[in-house]
Amino acid sequence: MEPLRRLTFPLAALLVLGCGETTQTSLAVAAPAAPLVVRAEVTATGGSAQLMTLASASPVTAMLAVDGRLYVGSDAGVSRVTRGVSQPVPVLAADGESTTTGRVRGLIAHGTEVLVLGDEGLFQSTQGVLVPSPLTASLAGLTLRDLCLHGDALYLPADEGLVRVVAGQVSRLTFAGVTEAPTRCVSASADRLIVAFTSEIVELSPNGDTAVRGPSGAGTVRAVIAGLDGAVHLATTRGVLSRDAGGAWTLWPIAGGAGGLTVWEGGLAVATATSLLRYDAAGWTPVATLPASEGARPLAIASSGHPVVAAPSALVEVQSGTGPSFEASVSPVLAASCGGCHATGAAAPKHDFSQYAIAVSLADVIVQRVTTGVMPPATSPRLSAEALEALLNWYDGGMNP
Ligand code: HEC
Repeated sequence: MEPLRRLTFPLAALLVLGCGETTQTSLAVAAPAAPLVVRAEVTATGGSAQLMTLASASPVTAMLAVDGRLYVGSDAGVSRVTRGVSQPVPVLAADGESTTTGRVRGLIAHGTEVLVLGDEGLFQSTQGVLVPSPLTASLAGLTLRDLCLHGDALYLPADEGLVRVVAGQVSRLTFAGVTEAPTRCVSASADRLIVAFTSEIVELSPNGDTAVRGPSGAGTVRAVIAGLDGAVHLATTRGVLSRDAGGAWTLWPIAGGAGGLTVWEGGLAVATATSLLRYDAAGWTPVATLPASEGARPLAIASSGHPVVAAPSALVEVQSGTGPSFEASVSPVLAASCGGCHATGAAAPKHDFSQYAIAVSLADVIVQRVTTGVMPPATSPRLSAEALEALLNWYDGGMNP
């Protein structure tokens, strides 16, 4: 393998291999500050948006959209899904390192790259491949369940406690009076890390030196995300549990619970066992009926603006939401790259592609010509990668005006 590979690590500062022993600290856990507010049950049926089946995948364990790319984790490793086609992301391993991630436990964004926790260790994306993190060796022997970044630390809930890595130093936190092992974590804001256990939640201060118990009786946590404005949302077996920036906890009960959730157009997209729901300032709205799937149900928003949800034997894209706008992101591209020949009709069939109605009526053939490289002709400059992506996202995203 190229010897310089390690130097290209965007996460080098965080993931350098440290030396020294793993320290273990047991923290006292203070009582919850406020009681849990339980709202009226959410109606989880009725959505009628169309579904489009994407690449089939082995059961999906995690999903993440970062920098316009959709990553899907499964028992088989990590794939990238582009326009409905799934392609495995290869692991570039040096001698003695694992050439697969194993079953994917968690995917998180770090800048425009992705960090992967698999049964074979910690990996990170760089230039379209995954490389094993040198930290993997320090984590050997731990049964890791999830990962999250908080400040300058990487946290990994494990059967052995909450593992924390700062500047390559691995330490372990346990919580007095909490007998369960942590399963999930997410950074709420600069001041709080939320750690989920099977039936409990603990809020941890930035340095990991004080802990407060979260609400109890809110169900078993299946997924956690950082929302907007410092809020945190958890999909649990009882519904959606949210903590606002001020620290108040609210539970929205949903029959069958919530399987997964993600931020979507200023609100939330929530996947239940049978439906996709939207939550925003207007309240809860059913969006689509999904193929039934019990338990955790990862989802993410594709670059088309549509939610992509794990269905038992495939991924489905829910054709809902405001995709990219023609006027803002596509018309200028078509005017600049195609107008010279097509708008006047002097050198080519006369079609002003920068006009919305014309672009829509010819969209299939435009996309076909452009993606096969036939247009613009070889004598003219190619579309840039960004311009092509804008065109395809608009096309996939429902061809908005
Ligand atoms: C250098 C001039 C030139 C440029 C630039 C150009 N085209 Fe073309 N295009 C042609 C010519 C000539 C034809 C007719 C021959 C053919 O169909 O291949 C054509 C045909 C087409 C057709 C078929 C139209 C029909 O009525 O049959 C489509 C669609 C098309 N171009 C799309 C595009 C798009 C989209 C762009 C910009 C991304 C583009 N073209 C840029 C010259 C150009």
